[in-house]
Amino acid sequence: MYRNHTCGELTIADVNKEVTLAGWVQKARKLGGGMTFVDLRDRYGITQLAFSKDVNADLYEQSNKLGREYVLQITGTVQERSSKNLNIPTGEIEIIVNELVILNTSDTPPFTIEDETDGGDDTRMKYRYLDLRRNPVRKNLELRHRIAFETRRFLDERQFLEVETPVLIGSTPEGARDFVVPSRMNQGEFYALPQSPQLFKQLLMVSGFDRYFQIVKCFRDEDLRADRQPEFTQIDCEMSFVNQEDVLNIFEGLTKHLFKVVKDIDLADFPRMDYAHAMKYYGSDKPDTRFGMEFVEIKDLTTGKDFVVFDSVEYVGAICAKGAASYTRKQLDALTDYVKRPQIGAKGLVYVRYEADGSLKSSVDKFYDQEDLKKWAERCQAEPGDLILIICGETEKAQKQLCELRLEVGEQLGLRDKNKFSCLWVVDFPLLEKDEELGRYFAKHHPFTSPKEEDFSLLDSNPGAVRANAYDMVINGVEVGGGSVRIHSSQLQKKIFEVLGFTEEKAQAQFGFLMNAFKYGAPPHAGLAFGLDRLVSLFAGLDSIRDCIAFPKNNSGRDMMIDAPSTIEQEQLDELGLKIDIKIKE
Ligand code: AMO
Repeated sequence: MYRNHTCGELTIADVNKEVTLAGWVQKARKLGGGMTFVDLRDRYGITQLAFSKDVNADLYEQSNKLGREYVLQITGTVQERSSKNLNIPTGEIEIIVNELVILNTSDTPPFTIEDETDGGDDTRMKYRYLDLRRNPVRKNLELRHRIAFETRRFLDERQFLEVETPVLIGSTPEGARDFVVPSRMNQGEFYALPQSPQLFKQLLMVSGFDRYFQIVKCFRDEDLRADRQPEFTQIDCEMSFVNQEDVLNIFEGLTKHLFKVVKDIDLADFPRMDYAHAMKYYGSDKPDTRFGMEFVEIKDLTTGKDFVVFDSVEYVGAICAKGAASYTRKQLDALTDYVKRPQIGAKGLVYVRYEADGSLKSSVDKFYDQEDLKKWAERCQAEPGDLILIICGETEKAQKQLCELRLEVGEQLGLRDKNKFSCLWVVDFPLLEKDEELGRYFAKHHPFTSPKEEDFSLLDSNPGAVRANAYDMVINGVEVGGGSVRIHSSQLQKKIFEVLGFTEEKAQAQFGFLMNAFKYGAPPHAGLAFGLDRLVSLFAGLDSIRDCIAFPKNNSGRDMMIDAPSTIEQEQLDELGLKIDIKIKE
C-alpha cells in the first residue's frame, strides 16, 4: 500500500497515529537548530512533515536535498504542532517522519505550484499538467465533475437515457463553420465533426427513446471569445410528447437542483421574458438581470429643440445610473471613449447629472432647459444623485450600444456581483433572421425549430415577423442553454426549407434522412442543450470558460501543450489523397 491517508485529512484527533502518506513536495523550509519542514501536497491538501537532526540525522540530511515537486512516500507519527496554521484543515498537526522514500525526482517547475502563481498564461498552458496541480484549477475541475455527475443523477431519476451519438458525421446546420476530417476510404470526401448532436437526437425521438440526454463534445470553428472554445461540452437533451412548458419546467428543475446541491442556493422560479421585451429594455437577447437600469425611450421628449443629433435619428435611449451623479468629468469622458471604441461604435454619449440640490446639468444644456431635462428625468424615474446616460442612432444599433454601456456602468457600480445569480428564460425568439447583404432569411436557431402556430399565416407574407417556439436560459447575462420545440411534420419542415431558400434537391441532399425518418411517425418533440463549460464557469465565478476545461485551446485555437494543430507527414497526405497547396501566412 502506497499510503493509508491523504494529505488533507489528518487532524488533532489523529495525534500519535503512525501514518503513511504519498505526495509532492510543495515547499521545503530549513530552519536553524536542525529542523526542516516539508509541505507534502496531494489532491486533498497539504500536510507538514518535520525532520529533526536530533531524532534522525540521516533523514534530516536527506530532507535537505528534496527539491520542489519531488514525489515522496513517508511514514511517521502524527504530532501536535507548536505553531499552528488554522487556515488549513491539517494545520494543527505535523508528521515526525521516520521513513522516507523518494518515489521520483523532479526538474524545477517553470512556475510555482501555488494558489497565486508567478506563471504567465502561455507558460501555464504549455505546462497545463503542472497548472492542474494548483488548487484553484483543480477545484474548477472538481466542480465540473460534480455538476456533470448531479446532472446525470437528476436526469436518470427522470427516465432520461444517455445515448452516444457519432462524432464522425456530415455537416450539422448550427450556423458556425464545421471542422472537417478527410476520409481515407472515401477519398475526396470529408466527415464533419458535430456542432451538436441535433439531428441524431431528433432521430432518437423517432426511434421512440422518449427522453434522451448526453454530455457530449461539440465542435465549432468560430472566432473564439472568453465564453467560446472550438470544442466544448453540451448537456444535450430531447423529449417526446412534450410542449414548451414541459421542457422549461424540467430544465429549470435541473438548474435549481444543481444550484442547491452544488452551491446550497435556493433559486426562485425563473421569470419568462419575451425576446422583443429583452431587446427593447436591455438591447440583448441575454440580459443581465442582476440589476435594473432598463432602457427608457425619450426620442419624443428630445425632438424639436434644434439639437440635430437627436432630431435626425430614429432612436434616443437612456439609462439611469442610480447614485452616479458624482461621476467626474474624467469618468464621463472615459465612458464616452468606451462606447466610441470601434467594437461598440457609438458616435457619442450624452449625460444628465441630477444634482443633489435638484438641478439638472447636462452635456446638451445649450439645447435643453431645466424643464426639458426634468421631463427626461421623470420618465427615467431619476432622483437627485442619479446620472442619466443617453445614446442615439438607428434603433437596433443604438440599443446594442446602450446594452454595452449598461453592462459597463453596472460593472463600475458593482452591480454585477459574481455571487448573485439571476436566472430567466428568454422566449418567443424570431424564427428567422434576414441577412441583408445576401437578401435571404436564415434560421435564427436552426431549421428544425417550429414556428408559433398563431404565426403560421405570416410565413409567406412576412416571414421576418414569425416567432418561434424557441427559448434560451440566461444566467447573469450569459446564455447557458437554448432549445426549441421541433417541427415534426414533414409538410411543415418542407415549407420551412422553402422559406429558407433550400431547393428541394438541396434539402434532400442535406437532410433527406431526417425528412424520410419523419415519414415514419415522428412524435411531437422538443429539447435543449446547456453549455456545460459556461455553467461551470458561472458556478465558479470565472471570467473565461478556459479555466474550467482540463486542456483548453488558446485564443488562436491552439493547444499550446501538445502544439496542435500541426502539419502531417507527406505519407499521411498521400494516403488520404490530399494535395496541400497553402500559402503559409508569415
Ligand atoms: P446552441 O447553438 O444554442 O444550441 O448551443 C447550446 C449551448 O451551447 C453553448 N455553446 C458554447 N459553449 C462554449 N463554446 C462554444 N463555442 C459554444 N457554442 C454554444 C451555449 C449554448 O447555449 N442543438 C441546439 C440545442 C437544441 O436546440 O436543443 C444547440 O446546439 O451555452
